[in-house]
Amino acid sequence: MTKLAIMGAMEEEIEPLLAHFENVNVVEFANNKYYEVNYNGLEIVIAYSKIGKVFASLTAATMIEKFGCDTLLFSGVAGGINPELKIGDLIVADKLCQHDLDITAFGHPNGYVPGGKVFVETTKSLREIAIKVANENNLKVIEGTIATGDQFVHSTERKDFIQSTFNADALEMEGASVAVVCDALNVPFFILRAISDTADMDAGFDFDEFLKSSAKNSADYLIKIVKEL
Ligand code: ADE
Repeated sequence: MTKLAIMGAMEEEIEPLLAHFENVNVVEFANNKYYEVNYNGLEIVIAYSKIGKVFASLTAATMIEKFGCDTLLFSGVAGGINPELKIGDLIVADKLCQHDLDITAFGHPNGYVPGGKVFVETTKSLREIAIKVANENNLKVIEGTIATGDQFVHSTERKDFIQSTFNADALEMEGASVAVVCDALNVPFFILRAISDTADMDAGFDFDEFLKSSAKNSADYLIKIVKEL
């Protein structure tokens, strides 16, 4: 690896990452800020994309194509679907899908468009490092499927659809788009999330209450992983 990209979607998701670094150089590009640091012998570029698949794709592609990053790690929060995932718990995606991608009218499965695939897998070697770090630090981490869509999910009806259609463990609004970009550009990546809510009718309240603490759980774990790269 020569240059590492670390992404979040919201400012709150990268603040606890930036808190670990000194001498940060800020570069402005395409209506966004990119934070360059050197850490542990690595060149790192950090950015938050803004919420949703379009902004996340733009930021991931920018970090790879403009900044020359050759590995990408994502840190942030998610809504839990798997009942084993409680608020604050960590999930590392083994694969991701887009739950709101729908051309079923033409006989295709949910999440599929021609030329694409329903699930994009994350990079096994990075997942293995993450699990090793979790074991060494006694952290409970679930490896599972993350479903992404341009919706903040706050109903059991939508949550149940995503669970039954994709067998997803958690949901959020950026991961699968980052996965599509990294997969297409052959860049190793992983998506890490900590649970901020359980995507039901209380999700909005829980998200506001737990965004910061869960984002910090994810960021602190990610920093431990970066030290092992
Ligand atoms: N990220 C965190 N919680 C979420 C939710 N309930 N829906 C979509 N994205 C989320």
